[in-house]
Amino acid sequence: MRMQGKNVIVTGGASGIGLASIERCLEEGASAVIADLEGSEGAVRAAELDGKHGGRCLFKVCDVTDTAQVDRLFEESVAELGSVDAVFNNAGIGGITPSDEVTDEEFLRIIDINLNGVFRVARAALRVMYRQGSGSIVNCASILGMVGQSQTAAYTAAKGGVVNMTRTLGIEAAPKGVRVNGIGPGYIDTPLLAALDEELLQGLIRMHPIGRLGRSEEVANAFLFLASDEASFITGTTLMVDGGFTAGKS
Ligand SMILES: NC(=O)c1ccc[n+]([C@@H]2O[C@H](COP(=O)([O-])OP(=O)(O)OC[C@H]3O[C@@H](n4cnc5c(N)ncnc54)[C@H](O)[C@@H]3O)[C@@H](O)[C@H]2O)c1
Repeated sequence: MRMQGKNVIVTGGASGIGLASIERCLEEGASAVIADLEGSEGAVRAAELDGKHGGRCLFKVCDVTDTAQVDRLFEESVAELGSVDAVFNNAGIGGITPSDEVTDEEFLRIIDINLNGVFRVARAALRVMYRQGSGSIVNCASILGMVGQSQTAAYTAAKGGVVNMTRTLGIEAAPKGVRVNGIGPGYIDTPLLAALDEELLQGLIRMHPIGRLGRSEEVANAFLFLASDEASFITGTTLMVDGGFTAGKS
């Protein structure tokens, strides 16, 4: 049991990669908090998973664009579980719009969730983990934090920001016993891709040398590794889980 006795928070934990990560952590002995928007499937999923593998599974409403909600998520999680040992900073949205058409509102919304939200959650996690003298934060970046892609200016700016912020937080937190890493998924078969048409999807599949989309569980396994003590000498880095997508690009 690689996460026995550990307490984990996953933002955006009600769906896709986040939900798979919750399930993997519970299977490995953890208790877990699904942090997601009001009206998400989080409460239903938590009720299904609570106690299923022995550990607790709680749902907390948390919009990562709201500092008060983020801070409350951590206060309540510590009060109810006793500690926060690992956090997956996973909440995020997509956005494909030609750059000459993107509105201020759309651009700022993507940045506020995918970049500012990651910082708000990391800051709250650091405050708790510094007191504990231990912890692991994993930020969800993307292949699009490493390479550009047409019509995704806000998304690529946010994810590129996550990759470099992860380096900074990694070196800053290391002396206090806290590790901070990132994960860079390739295209993963989740509801986030539901809006893409079949032709575009086939084109995306061809960009992955492994020849298919990734599965949420494959990203969850990378989170589990970075969250666990198996990654005790790893900090400040972003692990690509992308079927080789970025390997041939410099
Ligand atoms: N699916 C992919 O191909 C892919 C590729 C690279 C990176 N990612 C990243 O993986 C992460 C998870 O994506 P997914 O594919 O599982 O998507 P998803 O849409 O299945 O899940 C995202 C979750 O985030 C939640 N969320 C959205 N806005 C939020 C907010 N303001 N506060 C809290 N929660 C919020 C949603 O309710 C949802 O439950 C995202 O950061 C995404 O950018 C996904």
